[in-house]
Amino acid sequence: MPIHVLLNCVGDPTRMLVQAGLATDEVIVTPNAAELAASDLHRLIRGATAILAPLTIQIDGDLLDAAGDDLKVVANYAVGVDNIDLEACSTRGVIVCNGPPPMVEPTADIAWALVLATARRLREGITLAESGSWRGYEPDLLLGHRLTGGTLLVVGAGRIGAAVARRSIGWGMTVHYTARSEKPHLHEPPIAASRVTLEEGLPLADAVVLTTSLNSSTRHLMNERTIGMMKPEAVLVNVSRGPVVDEAALAAALRDGRIHGAGLDVFEQEPRIHPDLLTAPNVIVLPHIGSATVEDRTDLTRISVENILAVLAEKEPAFRVRIDPAS
Ligand code: GLV
Repeated sequence: MPIHVLLNCVGDPTRMLVQAGLATDEVIVTPNAAELAASDLHRLIRGATAILAPLTIQIDGDLLDAAGDDLKVVANYAVGVDNIDLEACSTRGVIVCNGPPPMVEPTADIAWALVLATARRLREGITLAESGSWRGYEPDLLLGHRLTGGTLLVVGAGRIGAAVARRSIGWGMTVHYTARSEKPHLHEPPIAASRVTLEEGLPLADAVVLTTSLNSSTRHLMNERTIGMMKPEAVLVNVSRGPVVDEAALAAALRDGRIHGAGLDVFEQEPRIHPDLLTAPNVIVLPHIGSATVEDRTDLTRISVENILAVLAEKEPAFRVRIDPAS
């Protein structure tokens, strides 16, 4: 009845599971499971009762069938669950859990860092300062754009989007957001946001921050047409999932100076980054580190283990993912 931990969690999930009463040999940790061939992974997880999975492993019907009928729960070490076939889990009676709370603030921090860094051209500034060819202060050197008093558009505002909106208060920004449902708490001061359509919000925004989940309606939401609706002074920041942005269209817009910059923590085919994004001016790329703090990833491990223990004890887990009828 093994519990399979298919990644190198921050913290010690084995200790937590053993403290909860499991035998040490019931917990099998495979840190490099995402690198295994599907056949090896399927062999590994045969007979599992629970799987703690990274977002880099696709949990599909074949994997669930390979695990077999004893599988009760898949805990995703993430908030996004686009790597999981929820339908396939549901038809096999497998409960899916995630861990939203620790993802919110660190991911909003990274989003805000990218907004500031791209609006003010930090990458070009660092490169010049380190190059040895900087000639000293010049009034028009690396001019960015003013954020203070500007407009922020949060695309797909959920918990992370709300945390991004909160950070903008210090910059006195007007906040707009898109979401499938109204978020009354965002309408209250001091955020005082208004809900808009993407088409309404894009032409107004100085910073566009993507925090939406990935599903069939958000894939390539930012494409040649929608990027073309942004102001030339605006920056685009993506901390959600790479495929929300058509990278080729973004690279072309940056190359042609149609937007001011882009800050990206996620990519269409990680770890590959579209080569034109690496050479485009004023792009900052990060290796998917949105929630990467010791404290938050340790919390995520604890939450994941608690989710698994709850399901195995036939209790309701704190963070169960249900199929979203709109996705
Ligand atoms: C990270 O990208 C997550 O979804 O938690």
